[in-house]
Amino acid sequence: MKKKWWHDKVAYQIYPKSFKDTNGDGIGDLRGIINQLDYLKDLGVDIIWLSPVYCSPFVDQGYDISDYYNIDPKFGTMEDMDELLAEAKKRNMYILMDLVVNHCSDKHEWFQKALQDPDGEYGQYFYIREGKGDKPPCNWRSYFGGSAWERIPGTNKYYLHLFAKEQPDLNWENEKLRNEIYKMINWWLDKGLAGFRIDAIINIKKDLRFEDFPPDREDGLCSPGKMLEHAKGIGDFLKEMRDKTFRKHDAFTVAELFNYKEEELRNYIGEDGYFSSIFDFSTHLIGASEKGWYDRKPVTPNAYRDTIFRSKLETEDIGFLANIIENHDEPRGVSYYIPEGECNDKSKKMLATVHLTLKGIPFIYQGQEIGMTNNEFESIDEIDDISTKDEYKVALKAGYSPEEALKIVSKYSRDNARTPFQWDDSENAGFTTGNPWLVVNKNYREINAKNQINDENSLLSYYKKLIRLRKNEEYKETIVYGEFVPVYREYNNVLAFYRKGEDKTLLIIANYQSKDIELPFLHQNNKVLINNYDSLKMDDGTIVLKPYQAVVLDV
Ligand code: GLC
Ligand code: CA
Repeated sequence: MKKKWWHDKVAYQIYPKSFKDTNGDGIGDLRGIINQLDYLKDLGVDIIWLSPVYCSPFVDQGYDISDYYNIDPKFGTMEDMDELLAEAKKRNMYILMDLVVNHCSDKHEWFQKALQDPDGEYGQYFYIREGKGDKPPCNWRSYFGGSAWERIPGTNKYYLHLFAKEQPDLNWENEKLRNEIYKMINWWLDKGLAGFRIDAIINIKKDLRFEDFPPDREDGLCSPGKMLEHAKGIGDFLKEMRDKTFRKHDAFTVAELFNYKEEELRNYIGEDGYFSSIFDFSTHLIGASEKGWYDRKPVTPNAYRDTIFRSKLETEDIGFLANIIENHDEPRGVSYYIPEGECNDKSKKMLATVHLTLKGIPFIYQGQEIGMTNNEFESIDEIDDISTKDEYKVALKAGYSPEEALKIVSKYSRDNARTPFQWDDSENAGFTTGNPWLVVNKNYREINAKNQINDENSLLSYYKKLIRLRKNEEYKETIVYGEFVPVYREYNNVLAFYRKGEDKTLLIIANYQSKDIELPFLHQNNKVLINNYDSLKMDDGTIVLKPYQAVVLDV
């Protein structure tokens, strides 16, 4: 495998709105990020991905962009952005922005012009089709609920929006539009961005027949995933984008890619792939149901292990996955992957151990490193997220009471990850001196960065140790490039694997349960590099791990 500059990096996702507010308006800003760069540097972060900070009406929290060339005043100015780039560079850090080009905002100039003249030049920037009688062109559902088509007032024409109706899909079949996008990408890369996280990209290729599929819910609609199965030829767009933009800049790109076909993996992330990497969402899909969140099944330790093994083995010889345990679209990983009642310091460290020793590029989501958990939402009014509101309705429709529906959506809501970062134990967790835009998790007095920063046993310090190990000259090659080999698969609730490098072998064992486990162990001369307990019992050909104990051994 040809070595790339980003292979050995550790990345961190910032959700700017909830990271750090510096002007008291209750909304995180670029200045807040600049002020905390040293915190991130100290953690060991190299690459920072910023969720969107472009101009936006915030219907979908910035994923609805009304101007790709400007910073939303809520976050600051272009000067702030330039300063962030310069300050990051000083620290040898890299900045990625979010590239949201499947759709834009309905307030974007292009769409405003398209509305005025649906048959004109800008109408071609979107998918606009005649209705069928008084119905939309076909029965596709949007990801956020309801029809994916919205009627243009005063006409029988509809535009396509796979997400909210305020997020019209851009017509990638139109070369003019594609060139506009490439121009914009290059403009940012020329400014000094290191690359992009690429949003919802699988959706840019549509099944252009725009026909019905068999409905999969009682609303008579079918999920957009169905349509994607029939959309052929996305590779042409992605290749063109890569060649006209990223490749020239040696940019790092990581794509959000659901619903891809396994045999295409090499095209996406192989040596000559369209992207540098894609996120590994495999564990996030465990237990998911077409019916909605109310029908999801909890994740078991064995399922988590088997799923991770499958996706790592599948990509082993192909390329690098970007590993996450959470992001801004998911509940908090520690609340989601650890069985109820067992989420504590040890189990959080166990998940971290696995996360940072797997093959791939680790992405830490803000607050993960201090163990932020799901929030207990007291009412649906406390929730801002558009998709949670839809799933709440779906649960009510399925017959759940409002209390039950709230409980269900609280478990999976994207707002769990979006509550403000917990910096310290002062009011509003030190996030803002004003009114935070979203509730602060009530546990901020116990869980916050200040508590942990000088405590060498804290989760935060543990993350630092893991990251330091990744960068340790002696182990770096093995952690970055070493072969991934599962072990102890026949034991329930044990997640263990080797990383076999050229001259070192690491063994990672995680006891994913609340009781001891004894395993056969034959490595004579071994060294404990990481341990989330003070000691480790090894004798007579066995090793005993305590509840949620996790270790990294040099064997
Ligand atoms: C991606 C984003 C998500 C957003 C959606 C539409 O999935 O991560 O936050 O709602 O795309 O842009
Ligand atoms: Ca602010």
